[in-house]
Amino acid sequence: MKVFIAGGRGRVGSPLADKLETRGIEVVSGGLDDGIDVISGKGLAEALVGVDTIVNVLNTPRFDAEGAISFFEGAINNLNAEGKRAGARHHVLLSIVGVGQGDASEIGYYLGKVAQEKAARSGSIPATIIRATQFQSYIPILIDQHTVDGKVFAPRSFIQPVELDEVIELLAEAATTLKPGGEVEIAGPDRFYHDDLFRATLADRGDDREVVTVNAEGATDAMVPRGAHRVGTVRYPISGIPLA
Ligand SMILES: NC(=O)c1ccc[n+]([C@@H]2O[C@H](COP(=O)([O-])OP(=O)(O)OC[C@H]3O[C@@H](n4cnc5c(N)ncnc54)[C@H](OP(=O)(O)O)[C@@H]3O)[C@@H](O)[C@H]2O)c1
Repeated sequence: MKVFIAGGRGRVGSPLADKLETRGIEVVSGGLDDGIDVISGKGLAEALVGVDTIVNVLNTPRFDAEGAISFFEGAINNLNAEGKRAGARHHVLLSIVGVGQGDASEIGYYLGKVAQEKAARSGSIPATIIRATQFQSYIPILIDQHTVDGKVFAPRSFIQPVELDEVIELLAEAATTLKPGGEVEIAGPDRFYHDDLFRATLADRGDDREVVTVNAEGATDAMVPRGAHRVGTVRYPISGIPLA
């Protein structure tokens, strides 16, 4: 079996490539550092020769709706067109729990993920969509993204962070054993409020930034699973945070 990982050297892509290779699967990494550009199409056709499954763990620094939509949708369209020509039979996409539920806040990046899911679902290669909540290791970055003028503005809404390796295990399973066409969500074992989680994480790191609680945009449960989902077993590495 041969798997093409779009974004194969990223936070998710790189450990996923290692996991698949240790299971004897041939992996082709498709990132800019590999000389492959999924947007311009440079190097894509050659890299996809003989590939059975495409795993899409691409990312963009564009957080505005126009930039995110154009990147995520454009990449899916190019991967589908070239993948189909090469004979790929399965497209596994990593998305985020809550995007596309209709009541998540109108963050441009999330609109890009909604467009990405839609393009994957209607694409020429049967797709499996894996949706994960925020990675536990990503929380400090999320805190920075919520910081304005030294203060952290945290919504009073739910967050249920998951250990990255458990997401990677699910992606490996999807790429190798799941039948195309499904949607699977994964979240961590515990549900917190953003502001409580951010305060505890900052305190644990000796970071004295103030956390300001703000009313949630949209529903309180907009970014956590609402239906059946896989529950990770690894707890957030800081204890004593109130559960939501
Ligand atoms: N962070 C979270 O908590 C979380 C939760 C759920 C889902 N996700 C999703 O997980 C996915 C992967 O995130 P990540 O943190 O692993 O991202 P990342 O570390 O930023 O990696 C992104 C990868 O995309 C590649 N890339 C960017 N533009 C490209 C282009 N034009 N052509 C080819 N490759 C390109 C990069 O290649 P180079 O390295 O060569 O530049 C890099 O390998 C994202 O779609 C994100 O929405 C994240």
